[in-house]
Amino acid sequence: MDSLSLILQAQTQNVLSQEQLLQLLQDPHIDKALFQAADRVRQKYVGNAVHLRALIEFTNICRNNCAYCGLQAQNTAVTRYRMTEDKIYALAHKAAKWGYKTVVLQGGEDGFFTVQRLVPLLRRIKALGLAITLSIGERPFEEYQAFKQAGADRYLLRIETTDKALYEKYNPAMSFENRLRCLEDLKRLNYEVGTGILVGLPGQTAQSLAQDLLFFKRFQPDMVGLGPFIPCPNTPLSDAPAPQLTPALKVMALTRLLLPDINIPATTAMEALQPNGRLQALQSGANVIMPNVTEGEERQNYALYPGKAAAAQAPQNLRQELEQKLHAIGRHIGTGYGGHKGRKGVPCC
Ligand code: 5AD
Repeated sequence: MDSLSLILQAQTQNVLSQEQLLQLLQDPHIDKALFQAADRVRQKYVGNAVHLRALIEFTNICRNNCAYCGLQAQNTAVTRYRMTEDKIYALAHKAAKWGYKTVVLQGGEDGFFTVQRLVPLLRRIKALGLAITLSIGERPFEEYQAFKQAGADRYLLRIETTDKALYEKYNPAMSFENRLRCLEDLKRLNYEVGTGILVGLPGQTAQSLAQDLLFFKRFQPDMVGLGPFIPCPNTPLSDAPAPQLTPALKVMALTRLLLPDINIPATTAMEALQPNGRLQALQSGANVIMPNVTEGEERQNYALYPGKAAAAQAPQNLRQELEQKLHAIGRHIGTGYGGHKGRKGVPCC
């Protein structure tokens, strides 16, 4: 079948085979048609609301050595920080005051933040009436359970790549099986689960991106966040080829075709790569933005990749600016919690 017919078929049937995904990923002439189809599917299934999640980057200390990540343990050029629980709470409080309904607590895999430390914090933040998303990496089932019981609603854990060999090459001392175990545990515990990948890792093929997309379809996450890999200084992949936005947008648009009602963020890495990257993403299948409410030095030091701190700003005065930009493309800021529509977890509206 020709690529345009394939896109139209996927738009209504939400199914694509490995070969068909490969064909669309490799066809350079159908990008616009693909983005428009994903935009229509987004409009039909999740509407014109753009849900905002306030991102709090509370520790940049990490035990891992992911080759692509600026915060890898062996990067001595990073000034490390760890916010106090009171500081994290104060940022969450500010986010609530600014009208956010969700806070995302993200950090490196930092052993300091034990269940004993996080549970009371989660309870306090929950009392602000916020939905809570955690993004703190791999933990045992019991810890995920304790966080859920304390009020966490959602969890973000990207699979990064489903190519096991590539995963284990770039995530030394980590295991692909444990990553999957974590994702399964989170699902069993009834979290709204977000996963995702990096697009453009050296050695990653169209074949493996097609596999990633089929994994999303099989796993049925509530959210998929993906972005271009942006080479980061002082990491083993610092000299990798310049990153590109289009391949990431294509994988994102295909994700929307396969999983029509999930939440898909216009990610910070897209915005870091191109000033209007986020708006482009919103018109190619995305329906969520995660403004960064981390401030000052900490924000500068949470450098997963270059350009991150400046992208996806959140301070209060920018909300109006964002609102205007959204209105210009027929969209508006969502007023509810913005949970996954197809699931009875966090309320969607
Ligand atoms: N470029 C883009 N995204 C990155 N991440 C880590 N390092 C980079 C990079 N150099 C992403 C990973 C991780 C998320 C928090 O940030 O996918 O899951």
